[in-house]
Amino acid sequence: MSTPPRPHQTDGEQRRPVTLTKLGEMRALGEPIVMVTAYDHPSAQVAEAAGVDIVLVGDSAANNVLGYPDTVPVTTDEMLMLAAAVRRGLRAPLLVGDLPFGSYEASDEQAIATAHRFVKEAGCDAVKVEGSAERARAIVKAGVPVMGHVGLTPQTAIALGGYRAQGRTAERARAVLDEALALQDAGCFSIVFEAIPADVTDVIMDLMEIPVIGIGAGASTDGQVLVLHDMLGIHGGFLPKFVKRYADVRGEMLRGMEAFTEEVRTRAFPAREHTYGIAPEELTRLKEQLRERQRA
Ligand code: KIV
Repeated sequence: MSTPPRPHQTDGEQRRPVTLTKLGEMRALGEPIVMVTAYDHPSAQVAEAAGVDIVLVGDSAANNVLGYPDTVPVTTDEMLMLAAAVRRGLRAPLLVGDLPFGSYEASDEQAIATAHRFVKEAGCDAVKVEGSAERARAIVKAGVPVMGHVGLTPQTAIALGGYRAQGRTAERARAVLDEALALQDAGCFSIVFEAIPADVTDVIMDLMEIPVIGIGAGASTDGQVLVLHDMLGIHGGFLPKFVKRYADVRGEMLRGMEAFTEEVRTRAFPAREHTYGIAPEELTRLKEQLRERQRA
């Protein structure tokens, strides 16, 4: 028997839902926007309780929770299942679903159909695309808000020369700038800048009119995002330079599981308080029944 379902957490019920208008206002007022990734219901509840503004069901779920080597193999159906679980744990934060590789590049029709699935089947408020201003424009026209993503775009990391900072020459920085402006012009409500030199971000920020969320792009963006499993120490693998670790969840999990393993092996668990009781007279009756059965 496992833990029964819990009622919806109410920690976030005082907060008003984060809208696209609210994000624009935060940018205008210089209030930093907080975004995290989440891939499941309990993490979504933590993001809600922590007062996060935007939750992204990133395709980084591929390597962080599904065990793929990178983000390329994750499918739309897998992303939709994770996004729906996150939706059930969120109330106030804006929920953005990442369109996975191969689900939007082929045509505007494909991009629109996939974006609609994220809204209708998983309850996402918006979707994110890497680059692809043309597809972003089509999705926006079809009624779904789009977040863009420039700089290091993991879905096409091989073409970018691997997982490395982008925009480190004047020409490459200009290419990042042009892509950001194209996404802004396409109607994106926000853009992620990933792994860009801080000085380049400063230059591009002067031209941006929509909220920019940075990850490894310096301090001048309108907000910051980190990948949940990196920032909370849920995995023990490689950490990019721009990650700050705020917790050691894997260490805690390991300590807990090692303690359980030890206590089962030494019969220290379960203790009396972890067991169910039976009324003494019922136990006596049961034993009598067994004795009669043996005599028969
Ligand atoms: O998939 C992801 O986690 C992302 C973030 C790095 C923004 O795209």
